[in-house]
Amino acid sequence: MSTKTPWWIRIPLLFFLIFGLMEYFIDSGDKPAIIEYPITQFFMLMVLLILIAIELILNSIENIMFQTLSPEAQEKYMASKNKKLEWKWAKELYQKLTKSRAIEREGEIILDHNYDGIRELDNVLPPWWVYLFYVTIIFGAIYLVRFHIVGDYDQDLEYEQEVAAAQAAIEEYKRTAKDLVDVNTVEFLADASDLNAGKKIFTANCVVCHMADGGGGIGPNLTDEYWILGGGIKNVFNTISEGGRDGKGMIAWKQSLKPAEMAQVASYILTMGGTTPANPKAPEGEVWIDPDAPEPADTETMEAPPEQAVDSTDIAMN
Ligand code: HEC
Repeated sequence: MSTKTPWWIRIPLLFFLIFGLMEYFIDSGDKPAIIEYPITQFFMLMVLLILIAIELILNSIENIMFQTLSPEAQEKYMASKNKKLEWKWAKELYQKLTKSRAIEREGEIILDHNYDGIRELDNVLPPWWVYLFYVTIIFGAIYLVRFHIVGDYDQDLEYEQEVAAAQAAIEEYKRTAKDLVDVNTVEFLADASDLNAGKKIFTANCVVCHMADGGGGIGPNLTDEYWILGGGIKNVFNTISEGGRDGKGMIAWKQSLKPAEMAQVASYILTMGGTTPANPKAPEGEVWIDPDAPEPADTETMEAPPEQAVDSTDIAMN
């Protein structure tokens, strides 16, 4: 940057340049980094202070150097310094791109025609316009060859590719967005973090009726293989979400728990299966056999697999 640029342009320019680079390189999700990570505010403040410090140092160095100059040199230096900031290159570029003629020199290009006193100037086509025109010609030629002769791709293919990409994005979103689980998509969560979260939810909401070890009290024993409303992650999730039979005391938790939380606590409950609680309540309901289990013991007692609900997005896609 030329030293002719005044400080009040230099400092903000550098400051915002660094700010922009920081925002570009720090991955902060939807929010700007400056809000997501407060430390960056401190960083930008430091940058500003350092920029000001550099300006001050440069200024004093200039001052010292100035004192060492001879009087003539000092005068010369002052003269060059007092020249105003000129946008010479910008003016030249503008002139090159428009080739406009100053009003005083219009006489050179005036034509002989005279229509009731209206005269015509023989201006050249402005170069910016001409260049743009050349660009459109080149674009047209490439387009013609690429799509009409070679047949690179067409709208159908483009559409299909975009739909495929969107579908992949939806899959990815569903995989990461745990709150989208419902009774049809819920799966047992084996992650320690999920099970710990499930345990917390259980301790906070469920122990009053089911006991901390799942042995049961007002609510049934959750550790045995007998289930009133069906075992397995899907049934348990459904019971938690929709509640038990009317008047029994088990409310629908979907009002107060998020789907992801219900999946976590349901998974936690399943991990209690087979443990021996201190005061186990007598079994209620029936032994539940997983219809998807590899070796069903008895086909008679097998339940029909829960009907798979159709994913509404699938319909939209087809
Ligand atoms: C107010 C007492 C109470 C609270 C609190 C409670 N439950 Fe229940 N729970 C019950 C009762 C009673 C039943 C039996 C419902 C029935 O017979 O229909 C039950 C049934 C269940 C069942 C089905 C058991 C089976 O044998 O099918 C599960 C799973 C369950 N509760 C999980 C939970 C979870 C998870 C929480 C906490 C988010 C919770 N419960 C909180 C009283 C409670």
